[in-house]
Amino acid sequence: MAPILLYGPGKGHPPLCESLAEWLTGVYKPSAGAVEASRICITNGASGSLANMMLEFSDPTYTRRIFMVEPTYFLACPIFEDTGFQGKLQGIPENGADCIDIDFLREQLKKAEAETWPEKPLQKTGSPYQHIYRYVLYCTTTYSNPSAKTMPVHIRESLVKVAREFDILLISDDVYDFLGWSNDCLAVDPPLRLVDIDRALPGATSFGNAVSNGSFAKIVGPGIRVGWVEATPAFVSSLGLVGSSSSGGAPSHFASTLVDRMLRSNDLQQLISAVLIPEYRKRFSTLMTTIEQQLLPMGYAVEATGPRPGTAGGYFTYIRIPAFFAEHGVFAKTLAGIALRDYSLRIAFGHMFVVTGDDGSRERAETPDGFAYCLRLSWAWLEAEQIEEAIGRLAECTAHTRRRVEQGEDVAKGVEIGIR
Ligand SMILES: Cc1ncc(COP(=O)(O)O)c(C=O)c1O
Repeated sequence: MAPILLYGPGKGHPPLCESLAEWLTGVYKPSAGAVEASRICITNGASGSLANMMLEFSDPTYTRRIFMVEPTYFLACPIFEDTGFQGKLQGIPENGADCIDIDFLREQLKKAEAETWPEKPLQKTGSPYQHIYRYVLYCTTTYSNPSAKTMPVHIRESLVKVAREFDILLISDDVYDFLGWSNDCLAVDPPLRLVDIDRALPGATSFGNAVSNGSFAKIVGPGIRVGWVEATPAFVSSLGLVGSSSSGGAPSHFASTLVDRMLRSNDLQQLISAVLIPEYRKRFSTLMTTIEQQLLPMGYAVEATGPRPGTAGGYFTYIRIPAFFAEHGVFAKTLAGIALRDYSLRIAFGHMFVVTGDDGSRERAETPDGFAYCLRLSWAWLEAEQIEEAIGRLAECTAHTRRRVEQGEDVAKGVEIGIR
């Protein structure tokens, strides 16, 4: 037991790097070959590692923009702001099934390149900072939070090519990848990640242009606080030397030894295939049936479930409220506020997923077909019967609010709902 109570190496518990590399190889079957332990850095989860990657690989005097695919996982915004990028976060729309509007991205890159920037980073200088990227792009490529979409592989390839052209660090939170299923098959393998494509395409740089930000939060439990980054060996070695790990060792050393046991004993793989996926699949099916029976007849639409018909995964689905509300300027956040106040029902709403500080992101969200008229529903937390009850309450809330709007009432008046 003594070693687990000592400081761990900055790059993480070596046996876990090994067992994780073997597991990831089996899950992704990367075309470029097995994942080596030298490509792994153990972290304290996707949130902590996002902050550490920013500290190690970005500089607010030199890194021009932080692009975030919108609607975005909203709690990533304060992490980027904390690391010095307030006012530099910029939304890139999903553009339907593509999951990222590459033309829009290119336009924004062109604008940013036309501005005057120092030739070298001014703050992060010297040997600890081996590579500072000009741009960062943040996304959740598979079973996205919140939009539930999965980026097609050919778009992933185009994105990696753009990233190489403009020195962009692509960070994908690949935290839901292991929770996929289909109608006729329990577990489905996730698509190749951006990091796999960056490794396979000829011409990769030594630090690379894509990282996979992984986490055990959704498959063991968020309290475990263990995750990993997979990237090039040069990238993860530098990440393991971020200031706080140089001083304190890997940030999740104790817990990561437990996760290593779970992987080596096959207990975690069993938990995923025999408990998590069957249960989530059941709850998903309850949710979808209830939506079909109660919400679709009212004018709701399901925006996305899985990458292909009959497939789904992750925690979420994203639904669009009836067009009637958009026609009367009633946002999903108003409906969510009323649901919370009058029906004890808490739902995440489109405005939460606007990129902080980017007026364009808000404007796009608020167009009649924008994501401010959407709600994110999760099947991960509630039991099947509670899901039925919740959708029933949402249907009641929607019908009642619609009647009030029809009677000319300003339903948004006095409705307050917080974003965090
Ligand atoms: C896309 C995404 N990234 C990161 C996280 C947080 O991950 P962690 O608990 O590993 O910090 C979540 C949790 O909801 C998430 O949905």
